[in-house]
Amino acid sequence: MSTDAPTAPTTPQPLPGGASAPDGYQLVTLGPDDRDAYLGVDVLAFGQPDLEDPPVPVDWSRAAGVRTTPADGAAGELAAVHASYPFDLPVPGARLPAAGLTWLSVHPLHRRRRLASAMIAHHLQRTAARGEPLSVLTASEASIYGRFGYGSAAPVVTVTVPRGAALRPVPGSERLTTRLERADATRHAAVVHAVHTAAGAAGPGRPGWAPRSTPALQEAFFWDPPGERHGAEALLLLTVSDPGAEDAGHGTRAHALVARTPTTVGGDLDRVRVREAAAVDPAAARALWGVLLDLDLTTVVEARLPVDDALLHQLVDARSARPVVRDQVWVRLVDLPAALAGRRYPAPVDVVLEVTDALLPANAGRWHLVGGPQGAQVTRTGSEAHLALDVRDLGAAYLGGVGLAALAGAGLVRELVPGTLAPASTAFGWPLAPACSWTF
Ligand SMILES: CC(C)(COP(=O)(O)OP(=O)(O)OC[C@H]1O[C@@H](n2cnc3c(N)ncnc32)[C@H](O)[C@@H]1OP(=O)(O)O)[C@@H](O)C(=O)NCCC(=O)NCCS
Repeated sequence: MSTDAPTAPTTPQPLPGGASAPDGYQLVTLGPDDRDAYLGVDVLAFGQPDLEDPPVPVDWSRAAGVRTTPADGAAGELAAVHASYPFDLPVPGARLPAAGLTWLSVHPLHRRRRLASAMIAHHLQRTAARGEPLSVLTASEASIYGRFGYGSAAPVVTVTVPRGAALRPVPGSERLTTRLERADATRHAAVVHAVHTAAGAAGPGRPGWAPRSTPALQEAFFWDPPGERHGAEALLLLTVSDPGAEDAGHGTRAHALVARTPTTVGGDLDRVRVREAAAVDPAAARALWGVLLDLDLTTVVEARLPVDDALLHQLVDARSARPVVRDQVWVRLVDLPAALAGRRYPAPVDVVLEVTDALLPANAGRWHLVGGPQGAQVTRTGSEAHLALDVRDLGAAYLGGVGLAALAGAGLVRELVPGTLAPASTAFGWPLAPACSWTF
């Protein structure tokens, strides 16, 4: 798949700014001409098979890397890469510009030389310079990013639901129509994007629901080369539609991208793997899962869902789904006052936070946050602090899914003035759990 990436400098250029690479390396911009080398580092770093024409939906103006600097002055080799997506990210009650850090890869023979550290420092500087108050990511390993000030803000659950699991009835689901067909990016990317967007905006809105905002990203989400199927069939698209409705999704109210995997050749199809399931309303969710849980020749359905997903409430026996919690979206406050003022608070809040931030000192210090459902203001203050915490833990609480009180219970937030923790924790919450339906 090709991308409509803007052109960028093709000769390596050292990057300005405070971040610097270790001796023997230099931080460089990357452009479309670096695509193969970029992919080469990524394939080696993640241990992926060589794949024909994989999509690289990066915005090259946001990509950078690290090259070796040979003593003889020759052009160096690419040793590490990263990029970011420009998200208009749902946060509690609002949307904010956020950099979605992605493709962070270091060549295996250059690892543990602080190349990732240099790239992340550089990424945070660029994010701040672009006026994006947040950086977000999904992590390959959960122990990497806390040291850079990212907090695990949107845990999700993986479920393994037995075929035939009973669902509670939802009025209106019976009049919806369903359709199952081979997924095709050209025909289906737009409708999947429309449902995904509407599902994230439903009700009070789901913080962290990162949009696949460019056509390249929307198409890349359908990528399904035979070499990556691990024995599964080609990707299927299941849609649920309201025959009477006319909207941006042409009446489509839910979708699931799925593939069944046989356990033995010619035997049972066994498991249904859900790449993404999203529904705009409860009846559509009920209709979608009614089909997914009753496919012939299958025994279980595996999916990754928000911790409060409709399925978990519609199942008669939610325990049978064997939910397992894991991290999904990590949040890093890059511009603390802009980030805290840019979200909404479902209850009034008036609190002074004492924040530490080893990597971005501009965030450190005492901040007075006054806000509520209509908006918020954040100012520097010399007043007595109520709560003390690191920017990592503020990032964890930022999307409203991880309580400040829970973090205090773990010793990560300190209540300096008794009685201030509970109201602040309530105000930082949100009615829907934050989540993101895809890994970027
Ligand atoms: C993970 C990866 C990017 C780290 O790159 P790196 O250049 O080796 O990292 P650095 O040398 O800058 O390490 C910085 C710190 O992170 C730690 N760290 C690095 N990788 C880690 C990992 N996988 N798990 C735990 N800690 C890790 C280092 O030990 C170091 O710790 P310290 O600050 O306490 O000394 C690299 O190993 C890689 O490309 N891995 C495979 C692909 C991948 O997982 N990418 C991340 C995608 S989300």
